[in-house]
Amino acid sequence: MSDTITAPTESRARTQHKRRYLMCRPEHFTVSYSINPWMEPTRPTDTARAVQQWQTLYDTYRELGHEVELIDALPGYPDMVYTANGGFVIDGVAYAPSFRFVERQGEAPAFIDWFRANGYETVVPEEVNEGEGDFLLAGDVILAGTGFRSTGDSHAEVGRVFGREVVSLNLVDPRFYHLDTALSVLDPVQDETTGPANIAYLPGAFDDRSRAILEERFPDAILVSDEDGAVFGLNSASDGYNVFISPRAKGFEAQLRERGYNPVLIDLSELLLGGGGIKCCTLELRGAK
Ligand code: ARG
Repeated sequence: MSDTITAPTESRARTQHKRRYLMCRPEHFTVSYSINPWMEPTRPTDTARAVQQWQTLYDTYRELGHEVELIDALPGYPDMVYTANGGFVIDGVAYAPSFRFVERQGEAPAFIDWFRANGYETVVPEEVNEGEGDFLLAGDVILAGTGFRSTGDSHAEVGRVFGREVVSLNLVDPRFYHLDTALSVLDPVQDETTGPANIAYLPGAFDDRSRAILEERFPDAILVSDEDGAVFGLNSASDGYNVFISPRAKGFEAQLRERGYNPVLIDLSELLLGGGGIKCCTLELRGAK
């Protein structure tokens, strides 16, 4: 007889990986139109407060050793602060966005210019897609959301551009209209210390087929409650150890601690008025520079 000792996932040591992010100071932030259920143009917004909350996120990333690049905010584009929609970047290649709604379409050329000026090989898309809002890299695989913004055809296109497997997931709840509002990749880098990439997600945001795929591929995933999902708990960034989340997502915070991650609480309540949170304000720059 031999004894097998299986280390519980909870005890795994987490490793922080330095990240490079693209952000945009919300100088022109407001809610003047509505393209998702969170946006109510009649409700007042406070731009100074948005800038202040955003600044805390920016400062925290830098204090923890991450690099943050900035793109200039364009007047007339209040949603530009949500840079996750500005592209999807792997190995120095930037797949540019093509926004679903006319209100944001003018942002795309600004992101394309930024990528080109900063040395990224830039692919201008044919299909409607909203960048890292709907595409998340989990290990070698691209998880891709559709149902509200990015099209199914963009999933095929992003697969061709990066030569990677794409797993299409259908979003069904209009409050969670981008994949990054319903699913978070906790391990941005894979190596011998991290094991396979794990994720957290909100089961109710997906259809049955997509849920079955997620259960099969990510048996150790953290399943987040509706309560935590509804405060955009999943709209979070992770460096493999620190997970930047909303302070309102109490249950998710405890789940992360149990698994050995370090939740870092950042309140972006003002930016939630536009239907975005921490991840929406953060575009990962992988490779180049
Ligand atoms: N108001 C923006 C929109 O509806 C919010 C974008 C949020 N971004 C994200 N990555 N989920 O397009």
